[in-house]
Amino acid sequence: MSVTDLVSLVQARAGAAPVRLGLILGSGLGHLAGAVEGVSIPYADLPGFPHAGVSGHNPNLVIGTLEGVRVAVFGAREHYYENGNPAAMRPALELLKALGAEALIATNAAGSLRRDIPPGDLMLLSDHLNFSGLNPLIGERTDARFVPMGGAYDADLRARLRAAAEAEHVTLPEGVYTWYSGPSFETPAEIRAIKILGGDAVGMSTVPEVILARFLGLRVAAISTITNMAQGMSDEQISHEHTKAMAPLGAAKLERILRAFLRGL
Ligand code: HPA
Repeated sequence: MSVTDLVSLVQARAGAAPVRLGLILGSGLGHLAGAVEGVSIPYADLPGFPHAGVSGHNPNLVIGTLEGVRVAVFGAREHYYENGNPAAMRPALELLKALGAEALIATNAAGSLRRDIPPGDLMLLSDHLNFSGLNPLIGERTDARFVPMGGAYDADLRARLRAAAEAEHVTLPEGVYTWYSGPSFETPAEIRAIKILGGDAVGMSTVPEVILARFLGLRVAAISTITNMAQGMSDEQISHEHTKAMAPLGAAKLERILRAFLRGL
């Protein structure tokens, strides 16, 4: 289905008022979609959208208002490790752009490499390391594929998010997120390598969406909820169950920051 047809389908259900901002929800954060007053459209009704999904995600697109701002909330993402497609979120992001959005805020669950950013805390992405060697724009034929990635994480959005966090008395340190393909977790040696390379957190998502969003001309910010110390940094054994159990700790803070951010727009 073309983007134009997808826009018609969505606007027929949710109304034609332009969306200002898109939000992608990470593992264990799916319930945030419930905070939005609006129309919920199952991904299954949206051709090109991810199908199976990962437990802890909520495969619905919710379009409505949060703190008076019209938003599109993607309750689930497709990760590269699900089907081997780094561009799996392209139809969703193209739709977001076509609905009128100027910006994307991506969220994820991640492991921390920084002792001063413990589980339950949040981290604002200042930049990323692509540890996967993959790129969602491979195969794109136009010159637009040569996307500059300096300043990919928008300075103004970041400043607004930091101010929102401060107003809510939530600590929001900045750091470099590293994309690891998954689905197996990293080895302790890989974590040591990532640390040397300059990574502050590690996860299995977000980077392909950020590249696609910059390709489409969306401004981007991203926030990790830290669910664990990265493998080898504590005695705890990492698991998806643990990620899902820990994510709500950060989710409550994340919701407060996002609400304060939206009120300030
Ligand atoms: N590694 C990769 N992805 C993750 C982690 C991790 O430690 N925690 C949550 N998602």
